[in-house]
Amino acid sequence: MTGQIKSLDEYHSEYARSVADPEGFWAEQASSFEWRKPWKQVLKWNFREPKVNWFGGGRLNITENCLDRHLATRGKQTALIWEPNDPKRKARKITYKQLYGLVCQFANALKAQGVKKGDRVCIYMPMTPELSVALLACARIGAIHSVVFAGFSAVSLADRIKDAKASVVLTSDYNSRGPKNIPVKQVVDEALALGCDSVRHVIVHQNTGDPLQMVEGRDIWWHEAVKGKRKSCKATAVDSEDMLFILYTSGSTGKPKGVVHTHGGYMVYTEYTFRNVFQYQDGEVYWCTADIGWITGHSYIVYGPLLAGATSVMFEGIPTFPDPGRFWAVIQRHKVNIFYTAPTAIRALMAAGDQWVKGRRMPSLRVLGTVGEPINEEAWQWYHERVGKKRCPIVDTWWQTETGGIMITPLAGITPLKPCFATLPMPGIQPCLVDANGHEIEGNDVEGMLCIKYPWPSILRTTYGDHERCRQTYFATFKDKYFTGDGARRDADGYYRIIGRVDDVINVSGHRIGTAEVEDAINKAPRVVESAVVGYPHDIKGQGIYAYIITSGPIADMAAFKKEVLDTVTKEIGAIAKPDKIQVVPGLPKTRSGKIMRRILRKIAEGDTSNLGDTTTLLNPEVVDEIKQGAKSA
Ligand code: WTA
Repeated sequence: MTGQIKSLDEYHSEYARSVADPEGFWAEQASSFEWRKPWKQVLKWNFREPKVNWFGGGRLNITENCLDRHLATRGKQTALIWEPNDPKRKARKITYKQLYGLVCQFANALKAQGVKKGDRVCIYMPMTPELSVALLACARIGAIHSVVFAGFSAVSLADRIKDAKASVVLTSDYNSRGPKNIPVKQVVDEALALGCDSVRHVIVHQNTGDPLQMVEGRDIWWHEAVKGKRKSCKATAVDSEDMLFILYTSGSTGKPKGVVHTHGGYMVYTEYTFRNVFQYQDGEVYWCTADIGWITGHSYIVYGPLLAGATSVMFEGIPTFPDPGRFWAVIQRHKVNIFYTAPTAIRALMAAGDQWVKGRRMPSLRVLGTVGEPINEEAWQWYHERVGKKRCPIVDTWWQTETGGIMITPLAGITPLKPCFATLPMPGIQPCLVDANGHEIEGNDVEGMLCIKYPWPSILRTTYGDHERCRQTYFATFKDKYFTGDGARRDADGYYRIIGRVDDVINVSGHRIGTAEVEDAINKAPRVVESAVVGYPHDIKGQGIYAYIITSGPIADMAAFKKEVLDTVTKEIGAIAKPDKIQVVPGLPKTRSGKIMRRILRKIAEGDTSNLGDTTTLLNPEVVDEIKQGAKSA
């Protein structure tokens, strides 16, 4: 393993070197891993098609770098500390040696079910160690995992299974979350009833042990599948550019797309960022509270920490169960040194009152992190003072599903902080701000759309099954640049502050939700003719979902109608996409060409109706006043 950046001067010199000689820089990082066969060419790329190849010709298996290479030195070290939902249950500790055994055994089970290199395996599981084992077992045999967050509905799950043509689904019986026991396997059954013809088998992990129906010939218990299987399994060597996983994410238009990451580059970048951003020291305990259903969990619960030989906590539950002091209790219980969470969790715990964190000594804490959405100053200060007791740096890490790893961030204890600023790019990352005409905005104290000018090892390679969509979405807006969809400010010191999405994506509690997706779901509810969805500022969630709906006639029972809409969205997408506010409107403001003027709807949703701009060019300017009036009761 190569060293860590240790000072601001070193950061600046590493950064300069990574821009002057990106290939030399990344080749050096990559050479600290084990490759079955060295790469022939470090980088080959163009953003036109786009085509990006890192470490082309190299052969490897990421799990050999996560597991095998640690066995000699860290076999007995704890890799995973699993904290169950129920605080009265014992935590489960798994060493690197044990994890290796579990992964190999399940890899053998997958093989026995006929899973081969390149096959897609859909994973719909709660936060248990078997979830990590599932991802790694797929990677071990060169199968491509597609994890679907276990809060998505059967309809969403079915869409993703069909898009990836998965042959096997891995799931669990139930999901213990707070006081709830959610029937996860039942959702899989419902999804498969929607015509997922590619699926041959469902492997079911017994988590709670509550009763359920198994489908003969299709469903297999996890414990039966691994019975008698060996705890060693030679990893399948894959090409650096072979697909490692697909992860679906929302965009401005249409259904979620499957972002594709590949073995070599993703491995190099997640390990490099994990080690440097958090300044991980051997023996420390690291805890990321994300769910593995999202990219943060993939990169910074599963791959990054294991590649770096870290010990990490994995948490099954929720921050408020059994009470809002749970996070702090877990930090004390496992002597957590590095704690990485989302602004929405910080705001929720802040709102629950200081009594839960006050008096909690957490001397083990050294570094705090946030991810997923902009953090507001009040939450930043509270996190810094109340949780970190003013002695822990906060790394505000900006990145995306598509970037694979952390892009703009302070390095813990090295980069001077400014609240709410993601600060400076990682070495190897060349961000720029662009105006509406696509011209790069030079200099400091400026604002624009955030783009990246040069490839980094874990940039997305394609969107599964639809490369043109990848080109259109990320590489066509601005020539020769990757467009992030975010707006950002660069201050006088050259520090970046992320403002938020500039497209039709809403960030609700750190989860990306496309307005088009929510509209499609709402439109399926009875009596809905048309809808328009926008985001608005929400104290806890960051952004809330505001839905304007045109109905086919007057609604007598508004409460019942709203419930129908919410139930439909829950069924089509999942509870995370439920609108916070619903307003029935007589019409939607449209341009003469029929385009909905979302700008006006956003303003009204924000409660700012003082300056709606010029509405006279609208096809139907009269609806604006009516919507303004009605907004008061939404
Ligand atoms: C937002 C999550 C401000 C941003 C890793 C981005 C952030 C989207 C930050 C990606 C941050 C992520 N500050 N905004 N530190 N981190 N975002 O794909 O809008 O779930 O485009 O990846 O979250 O969300 P995704």
